[in-house]
Amino acid sequence: MSELITGIAELSTCTGADPLQNAAVLIDEGRIAWVGAASDAPDADEVIDAEGRAMIPGFVDSHSHLVFGGDRAAEFAARMAGEKYAAGGIRSTVAATRAASDDELRARLRGFIAEMRAQGTTTVEIKSGYGLSVAGEERLVRLAAEVTDEVTFLGAHVVPDEYAGRADEYVELVCGPMLDVCAPHARWIDAFCETGAFTVEQSRRVLGAGRARGLVPRLHAGQLGPGDGVRLAVELGAASVDHGTYLGDDDVAALAASDTVLTLLPGVEFSTRQPYPDARRLIDAGVTIAIACDTNPGSSFTSSMPFCIALAVREMGMTPAEALRAATVGGARALRRDDIGVIVPGARADLVLLDAPSHVHLAYRPGVPLVHTVWKDGVRVAGRA
Ligand code: NIG
Ligand code: FE
Repeated sequence: MSELITGIAELSTCTGADPLQNAAVLIDEGRIAWVGAASDAPDADEVIDAEGRAMIPGFVDSHSHLVFGGDRAAEFAARMAGEKYAAGGIRSTVAATRAASDDELRARLRGFIAEMRAQGTTTVEIKSGYGLSVAGEERLVRLAAEVTDEVTFLGAHVVPDEYAGRADEYVELVCGPMLDVCAPHARWIDAFCETGAFTVEQSRRVLGAGRARGLVPRLHAGQLGPGDGVRLAVELGAASVDHGTYLGDDDVAALAASDTVLTLLPGVEFSTRQPYPDARRLIDAGVTIAIACDTNPGSSFTSSMPFCIALAVREMGMTPAEALRAATVGGARALRRDDIGVIVPGARADLVLLDAPSHVHLAYRPGVPLVHTVWKDGVRVAGRA
């Protein structure tokens, strides 16, 4: 059954072309079948009048950690009173996650997915990383695979307490038995390459082992300080390197000359009181940028892509159009997908109608729930319509 959405005041296709005014979109069989001027629209089984609202692609949130137990509100409050964020906080979530049942984790995870959809996210990548044992990580990637195709094995998140002082032995476990049981549920391999987590050499081993099992690398780097992680990611041809709070000129040059996407996570700078990276400098240098929420109980507990867009515009020097592209087609590139993040014939009908006349309102009206209706694969999955 085909559905025509017409009366769209502004349609951001996120292809690089200017937005269309007075546009219409035809959905058929879960895909976008036609895009153009409302006055030229074809017939359809059902017609929906957008009544002058703006339409954008569904957000592609390419970095999240949604399978966990507990929260760390007290740690956040302590930070806002002057404490610093450190990688070790992850271990307290590992304890809470290990104590939670599958059903508890699943209910929480499904709650986050619903929360995200209501805010316009139609694709989300989900990492493991709070199990840190063979069975614990297998459980998290398996639960994540129930709700998304974009699952990342992050056994190398932090060294768990029982391996304290024996990081290389833990890396052996990650690259051997843990990878063996997790790889069948995952598409991506990731590591946290940072002081307090894993070294460049350890991260190289983990990503190499994952690649040998058919997983594609992505990497956490440059979050807490400068280092060689960004160049490692580029050298290994990672799909994405994430955080990039601290980047040297050589990192920027390496990224600009590569196919590796830099995924910025403004919710982390917000919630850890760290300096925001200068996206203007990165875009001007030719780096491909994505924006993601990094939803997790420690460094960024927002699931709102509109909030992250507003931060990227206000604090990172992006224009509203650049931030929207980073949150849609940028995220799709970070996940090596060309069927999402854009509104073109043939793409999946993952669409968001905003209760606003233009995409600029995403940053201009921060904190306001502007998502009116969400379609995923052509089906209305959230909203007021
Ligand atoms: O992306 N950096 C590592 N992992 C998460 C934080 C996880 C936590 O603090 O629990 C991040 O920021
Ligand atoms: Fe992360």
